[in-house]
Amino acid sequence: MDYERAKTILKQRGQSHLLDYYGELNEAEREQLLEEIENINFSIVKNIQAVGSKAKVKIRPVQAVTLNDVKRRRPQFEEVGLRALENKKVGAVLLAGGQGTRLGFDKAKGMYNIGQTRFLSIFEQLINNIKDVTDLSGRYFPLFIMTNSLNNGETVQFFKDNNYFGYPRDRIHFFVQNTEPTCDFDGKIFLDQKHRVSLSPNGNGGWYSSLINSGYNRIIEREGIEWLNVFGVDNVLQRICDPVFIGATLMSGFNCGAKVVKKLCADEKVGVLCEENGKPAIVEYYEMPPELANKKERGGELVYRYGVTLNYLFNVNRLNTTLSGNLPYHLAKKAVPHIENGVRVVPEEPNGYKFETLVVDMVKLMDSCLAFEVERDNEFAPVKNAHGTDSVDTARLLLKKNGVIL
Ligand code: UTP
Repeated sequence: MDYERAKTILKQRGQSHLLDYYGELNEAEREQLLEEIENINFSIVKNIQAVGSKAKVKIRPVQAVTLNDVKRRRPQFEEVGLRALENKKVGAVLLAGGQGTRLGFDKAKGMYNIGQTRFLSIFEQLINNIKDVTDLSGRYFPLFIMTNSLNNGETVQFFKDNNYFGYPRDRIHFFVQNTEPTCDFDGKIFLDQKHRVSLSPNGNGGWYSSLINSGYNRIIEREGIEWLNVFGVDNVLQRICDPVFIGATLMSGFNCGAKVVKKLCADEKVGVLCEENGKPAIVEYYEMPPELANKKERGGELVYRYGVTLNYLFNVNRLNTTLSGNLPYHLAKKAVPHIENGVRVVPEEPNGYKFETLVVDMVKLMDSCLAFEVERDNEFAPVKNAHGTDSVDTARLLLKKNGVIL
């Protein structure tokens, strides 16, 4: 795109300020800026009020495969799951494209040292969890790892330097998720530098389209993979491609499965798997009306009690048929570094929005989802913060409780 064209487009969109420093840039920087302007998805910032606004809907609780059910039917579930793994029907997708701002670590979150007397990165711990299953099934399944444009280089290098933690190199496939512009509260797009538009990862909901953009659907098709186990980087205790979970989901006939834990209390900050207008849906803790969050059954249990752990099994055929359905964007209020009056400012308080699609919205598109309960103390140790709730401290305690030497 040339300068004149960019100027016209930006004027039409009320974003002319993006060219404020054009006169100060060298030739390469000018080219870079014009290219980034050409790629901006302006529609997203056009009407920020509409983003994330939600029509009122009726929600209902879901039935789950409970811990007791799992205990009773474990051998059966496990056999079906192991067969699917042995027949190469399952792959895994690690979502590692977040920015981990709450942890306050300046590298990819997976590189964080969760060890105490030895170096044990979150990535290594997750691969160890995977190896528990590959040892059982005798097969290494493909592991797709989603990064973002900021942490991709260091993530790829870290795996290489650590010899892929013993996982076969040719079974690991990295791909970079897409970005969207950030903007201030009035919808003005930020410049990150005088020649760079401020872009940020577009949330974890874009994983399947980003995977396809990377061409990895060819691997999925070639290998005949029918299910993808998608999991977050945070939960260091989770079982990945767990045969029992896979078996239960396959036997349910549903298009999707979600590992859930019983909430500790009504106001725990986790999304809850519910039914919304007859479809599975995850209601975020901040969207759940308090009277529903607190509602109890006669026996005293919470009615809406199944919190999601960001470990899902998605049917690939179903994913392909839903690809054309757009995921809604959510506005995340964040502190966004930007150029102001010619100087780069790094604010401490939120000053604008990032736009994110969420994997939880994909569940709705699946039409049916099995809630599969797992034992919290054995499978749920999210690392969100350095200290306090869902932190490095709590995760370390749980890892040790589960026999992991730190
Ligand atoms: P979080 O919701 O914890 O977001 O991500 P975050 O960006 O990592 O952390 P904070 O909120 O800034 O502290 C949940 C999972 O989704 C992935 C994360 O890597 C994590 O596994 N994720 C999140 C992505 O892969 N891409 C994104 O754009 C956002």
